[in-house]
Formats: sequence, structure tokens, C-alpha cells
Amino acid sequence: MSLLDLARVAAIERSIYDFPWTEGNFRDSLNAGHEGWLLESMESPGKLKAYALLMWIVDEVHLLNVSVRADEQGQGIGRRLMQWLLAHCYAQGAQSMLLEVRPSNHVALRLYAAFGFEHIGTRRAYYPARGGVREDAWVLRCRLETVLA
Ligand SMILES: CC(C)(COP(=O)(O)OP(=O)(O)OC[C@H]1O[C@@H](n2cnc3c(N)ncnc32)[C@H](O)[C@@H]1OP(=O)(O)O)[C@@H](O)C(=O)NCCC(=O)NCCS
Repeated sequence: MSLLDLARVAAIERSIYDFPWTEGNFRDSLNAGHEGWLLESMESPGKLKAYALLMWIVDEVHLLNVSVRADEQGQGIGRRLMQWLLAHCYAQGAQSMLLEVRPSNHVALRLYAAFGFEHIGTRRAYYPARGGVREDAWVLRCRLETVLA
């Protein structure tokens, strides 16, 4: 992912989240040195199917964002992207991957559980939510050598 991709990325982001990252949030993330990845269609070059952002802290990687466009969800793309991200991070020397997820996001929780992510903590009232209330974030961790070695 480069700065040139951000209009496409932010358009998908707006279409799939109630509280999306803005294009500026993505720009700030890339400018901060975070690693962005795109999954593009082989059949329709330029059509973006999914994207992810990683923040490395020495040998720990934080998965800041992983998203599949709405009309491509539920077809195995998220699973394949996660498999690739975990293998990539392990190959680059990461020991673990961490992420935050809403406890109400059952699809994402099932996906992460399938890769051995464990709930290691809770950030209270971390996310904005509908109705002006806030929702906790669950912090999940995957120890890469236990799933990839
Ligand atoms: C969460 C997300 C990345 C998963 O990607 P995806 O391509 O839709 O998921 P996949 O088709 O690869 O399915 C992976 C697993 O997710 C779960 N899943 C997928 N669709 C599901 C559905 N409709 N209901 C319940 N579980 C579902 C299943 O466990 C599935 O594995 P299985 O098919 O072996 O049972 C994607 O749905 C997405 O971008 N959602 C909106 C943004 C988001 O929530 N991102 C994560 C923020 S933490």
C-alpha cells in the first residue's frame, strides 16, 4: 500500500465500517512507517479486494487493520490474507501478532480463533459505537511459532 492507493482503500473502509478510518488516518499510518498490504484481483487488475496494515514493534506485530471489500466477504479471502500475513511476519522475525477487535464482531473473532489467537486483555470503552455508547476492545495475541513452526 502506498499513498497513491489511499482513495481506493478509504472508499472500501467507508463502505464496511460504521466508524471507518479516514483517508487521513491511513496517510498518517503509512507516514509513521506502518506496513500496508493490498490484495488485488487477478481477473480485474486494479480492483482492490482486501487490505491490511501492520505496525512492527521489534519482534511483535500489531495488526492495525484487516478488511475485505463487502462484495468479496465470506469467500475465504480474509482467511487467505491472514494466513499470508502471519507467514510473512514470522518469516520477517516476528514472535507474535496482536490485534484489537470488537467483541460483537463474531465473524472476525471466528477468523482469529481459527489461527490460534487468544484473548489476553480488554480495553474498556475503547471503540465508539452506535447510540453514542462505547464498546470494549478485546486484545488478542497469536504466538506465531505455535501456529507456523
Ligand atoms: C472479518 C473479515 C476480514 C473476514 O474476511 P472474510 O473474507 O469475510 O472471511 P472468510 O470468508 O475468509 O472466512 C473466514 C472465517 O470467518 C468466519 N466467517 C466468515 N463469514 C462469516 C459469516 N457470515 N458468519 C460467521 N462467520 C463467518 C468463519 O469462521 C470463516 O471460516 P470458515 O469459513 O472456515 O468457517 C471480513 O469479513 C471483513 O473485512 N469484515 C469487515 C471489517 C472487519 O470486521 N475487519 C476486522 C476488524 S478487527
